[in-house]
Amino acid sequence: MISEILSLVKKHENWRGKKCLNLIPSENVMSPTVRSLLSSELGHRYTARDRFYMGTRFMDEIEQFGEELAKDVFGAETADLRPLSGHVADMIFLACFSKLGDVFMCVSPEDGGYPGLWHDGLAGLLGLRVVPFSFARDAMNINVEKAKETITHAKPKLLVFGASLITFPHPVKELASIARELGACVGFDGSHVLGLIAGKQFQDPLREGAHALFGSTHKSFFGPQGGIILADKEHGEAMKAKIYPRFVDNAHWNRIAALTLALAEMKEFGRDYAEQVIRNAKALAKNLYDYNFPVKCPHIGFTQSHQVILDFGNYERGREIAKKLQQSNIIVDRVIRLGTCEVTRRGMKEEEMAKIAELIKSAVMDGENPEKIKRKVAKLCSEFQTVEYCFKP
Ligand SMILES: Cc1ncc(COP(=O)(O)O)c(C=O)c1O
Repeated sequence: MISEILSLVKKHENWRGKKCLNLIPSENVMSPTVRSLLSSELGHRYTARDRFYMGTRFMDEIEQFGEELAKDVFGAETADLRPLSGHVADMIFLACFSKLGDVFMCVSPEDGGYPGLWHDGLAGLLGLRVVPFSFARDAMNINVEKAKETITHAKPKLLVFGASLITFPHPVKELASIARELGACVGFDGSHVLGLIAGKQFQDPLREGAHALFGSTHKSFFGPQGGIILADKEHGEAMKAKIYPRFVDNAHWNRIAALTLALAEMKEFGRDYAEQVIRNAKALAKNLYDYNFPVKCPHIGFTQSHQVILDFGNYERGREIAKKLQQSNIIVDRVIRLGTCEVTRRGMKEEEMAKIAELIKSAVMDGENPEKIKRKVAKLCSEFQTVEYCFKP
């Protein structure tokens, strides 16, 4: 039994870690040092806010260290590294600033919004009345003028910007002040674009009018899987007061240590990393567009984030293509969104984006033998096995 379990992990590691082009925008790779902290002694331990447990002094220091770094990297008045995931961070924000029946605005899943915020997700769980932002699909963005009208009429208590499909900055600056004047609390779910925000290459929600920025720490942000909340003093302290005992009991200290180190990497290398992620996304989009792939938004430069969206009209067609790409060890989701975080972290640049586009073309358009493409993919991956934008031990 033991050998079976270990062998499955090894097979996965060998396949996804060494032989695949990983283009899922929700994923990234940690540096070896950040990754090693996940298996540190900290992963066995407990702490509690009321000092119930002894033996916590180094964990307490790590938490302080991490919070200070996070405040510095994001220019936030408060930071909290305890949320166990992006979804839990979303839940903390929504639950702390709403009550049953309140109106809540976010991007609809049909327009690329995060389904976990919608009726079947947190809005349903918390009994919120969810109203979508008007959305302009040709620009892949919230329609500012129509959204202003909806805010004025619906008087939401909560707004959350950000989405799962996000290629352009959301109009926080244009909409937050109107919502705030009506007494709303404004959040930005930065799960997807957190690394680009940290690298100062996307938008800056906390300066544009959001009270809080929160989300996952493992998509464009290259930390361990988990969540984070950054906020102004008033909202941050209100959430901190409730995280325990409502949402997280023991935090995962191995993850928080790893996240702290990833924050240090982001402070040092974040700008260069985020710039290259976006340059790579633009290059991948342009190359695919030149091969006649239906890349979204050619009229506005395709993308300003880590994502490239291919619009095949429906998810069924997307799923077929995603399966076909998987046969060649090119891993994407079924939207199809392509993400450039991981390949960038492995050191790939525009030249490699042209090669990736060619590989995608040979799999999807030319019907080339998948075994042949797999060999080319493996060769390309073998040249990029290290992790860049990190401290070298
Ligand atoms: C916009 C957005 N928010 C939150 C989440 C949930 O993140 P996590 O998987 O860290 O819980 C996702 C998941 O992909 C997402 O796209």
